[in-house]
Amino acid sequence: MPVAGHGTRLLPATKSQPKEMLPVARKPIVQYVVEELVSNGIQQILFVTGRNKASIENHFDHDPELFRTLTEANKQDLLQETNFEAMRAHFFYTRQRLQKGLGDAVLCAENFAGEEPFLVALGDSILGLNAVSRAVSRMAEVFDAQRASCVIAVEEVAREETAFYGIVEPDASEGDVCRVVHLVEKPAPANAPSNLAIAGRYIFSPAIFDMIRRVAPDRRGEIQLTDAIQLLCEEGRPVIAVKLSPEEKRYDIGNFPSYFESFVEFALADPVYGVEFRRTLERLLAKTPARTGVLV
Ligand code: G1P
Repeated sequence: MPVAGHGTRLLPATKSQPKEMLPVARKPIVQYVVEELVSNGIQQILFVTGRNKASIENHFDHDPELFRTLTEANKQDLLQETNFEAMRAHFFYTRQRLQKGLGDAVLCAENFAGEEPFLVALGDSILGLNAVSRAVSRMAEVFDAQRASCVIAVEEVAREETAFYGIVEPDASEGDVCRVVHLVEKPAPANAPSNLAIAGRYIFSPAIFDMIRRVAPDRRGEIQLTDAIQLLCEEGRPVIAVKLSPEEKRYDIGNFPSYFESFVEFALADPVYGVEFRRTLERLLAKTPARTGVLV
């Protein structure tokens, strides 16, 4: 799980805290992502971190004092939600020392992955409401069945949003699983080969590492993972896109508008506070003139 980025699109909230630790309703984003992966059978999670990301390690660490306090107060729910030792997962951490892009962050996992296929899950994207989604399992099935070199989760975005994402060009096949013939990172709408955006989950064979090494840095000195996948396509290796279903919707925390939307949707679905929060929102909306968005 690459979590090394600065989160500059979320400043000032991310000046001294990782964007992956921002809460969506009751939990930090990174906890949802871990829960999603574990529920899909992933048991070893390597975080590729950077400076200022220590709170991610702390979050998944054991806290004896908190454990004692919650036990004494008999707060079973909270004990369960913070007891990461009970999860069938092992956590590992390594640092990306220089900010050289997502491709370089993935390269930091080369020794960890070894000769095995592996999943990359971006730490700022949650799949499914409350991280309930089988997308990663579906992707793994496609990876095995098609002997793929890479399987990418994709979702449709509005044409005018293509410049925020990696965009894939699928072949002519119909349906939710298609071969990718070409990819481009953040194209202007006029140059985008489709409106299918890379949605933060990838499965790779270790062949990706050599491709990453061959990618030249972009204008900002970053090595793009999308460019490395394009090299897989150019070598004729199978790169497959799996479209997310509506229930597997991606909650993107990389920018404020979608962070706000994600927070509100998760808060509305909260089993304890959701109903009350809905009433509060309705009350606030009734007071808000739609044109300005200013409360009066
Ligand atoms: C990264 C990837 C991009 C992908 C996006 C999904 O971009 O480079 O291909 O579509 O994540 O969130 P970033 O958001 O890090 O700029």
